[in-house]
Amino acid sequence: MTASLTDTRSSELFRHALELLPGGVNSPVRAMRAIGREPIFIARGEGAELYDVDGNCYVDYVCSWGPLIHGHAHPEVLAAIGVAAAKGTSFGAPTPGELELADEVARRMEGVDMLRMTSSGTEAAMTALRLARAATGRERVLKFAGAYHGHVDDLLAVAGSGLATGGLPASPGVPAGAAAGTVVVPWNDADALLAATERHELAAIVAEPLPANMGLVPPRDGFLELLRDRADANGALLVLDEVISGFRVASGGAQELLGVSGDLTILGKVIGGGLPAAAVGGSSELMRMLAPSGEVYQAGTLSGNPLAVAAGLATLELLDEAAYLRLGAITERLAAGLREAAGDYPVQVVSAPGLLAVFFSEGPVDSFEGAQACDRGAHASWCRELLSRGIYPPPSQFEAWFPSLAHTPEQLERTIEAASAAFSCLAQMGLSR
Ligand SMILES: Cc1ncc(COP(=O)(O)O)c(C=O)c1O
Repeated sequence: MTASLTDTRSSELFRHALELLPGGVNSPVRAMRAIGREPIFIARGEGAELYDVDGNCYVDYVCSWGPLIHGHAHPEVLAAIGVAAAKGTSFGAPTPGELELADEVARRMEGVDMLRMTSSGTEAAMTALRLARAATGRERVLKFAGAYHGHVDDLLAVAGSGLATGGLPASPGVPAGAAAGTVVVPWNDADALLAATERHELAAIVAEPLPANMGLVPPRDGFLELLRDRADANGALLVLDEVISGFRVASGGAQELLGVSGDLTILGKVIGGGLPAAAVGGSSELMRMLAPSGEVYQAGTLSGNPLAVAAGLATLELLDEAAYLRLGAITERLAAGLREAAGDYPVQVVSAPGLLAVFFSEGPVDSFEGAQACDRGAHASWCRELLSRGIYPPPSQFEAWFPSLAHTPEQLERTIEAASAAFSCLAQMGLSR
């Protein structure tokens, strides 16, 4: 069932968008530049399928970059939003739902006694840094190359020329001083982590416990334990960013799946069920440092928004033990099918429940450097071929696939068939190596 993509209307809208929005989009990866094509304008989504403005239908593996673990327009999530909206969309005052959500999160996430909600993961990361600095009386933080924690100045840093120099701005406009306070260490590099933690007094070690912003690069055996150990030895807080992995890879996130525990946890995506919500959580002792119970200032007009809280609660309520087993099975079938589809084409399919990456690499990828060394040209061609066959993959080698509970066996088989045809096309184009 090969359908070639008609994109006249998307193309027209994109020309118009280029006049109104920088690059035609409101967030860069949507522009699809990494796979050498224009963005597709979406009309609607249903379950695991997306429909574009040209009438094409796709099996969606982006799912809004993670929040939609039950797929698009799930009836129970929509109903909860509807009920909440009918009562008013925002009050700037506490509502009972915020307590229910904080309670539900505390029940699921070990180490989270209290929660402060924000509207985006970026804000939650910013809040976690401020809290860690206030708690330790230190400023410097450590992050890992290739990890993404939102567009917080301090965390938009790349490695400088040596450990002594701190980080360099990863974007124009990031103050050199902000980046210099961030030590950037290669992921999975125990020696570099030891050296950095011996050299610097840190406020925080910030990490995605299951990094999913460089494809999907799980920690090597013992690496998370080392993070915990080095944070304690250094006197730093371990800040675990579970914006992607939280409530996705397990009820208690990557911390439950991989057996590690952070001092502060950053949450986002699933917690808002597709509406803007995120949070930082931790022990009561740390969290009570936030205003107004403590001195650390943090605020937000729409924080704990009743619609987002209702969507998040409805989403979490559907995530029981059976749901996680099913999501694991869906992901495994997809991963196995993509490996079969690739045949002897050199790719590495990596997965965790609800997450997957297809690296165009001859060998395993366990660092950002490894992800950067992938054949991104071949990956881009493969993604374009998938799109032309009605499959919507994340349009970058550095983004993970988000299989959801809405993906049906038929859609998975359709995906595997399209992937197989797309690999054959690459081989025909001479892109096999
Ligand atoms: C691990 C991680 N942390 C933080 C963020 C920032 O979240 P937001 O886009 O809601 O600001 C993201 C966004 O993708 C993320 O993947």
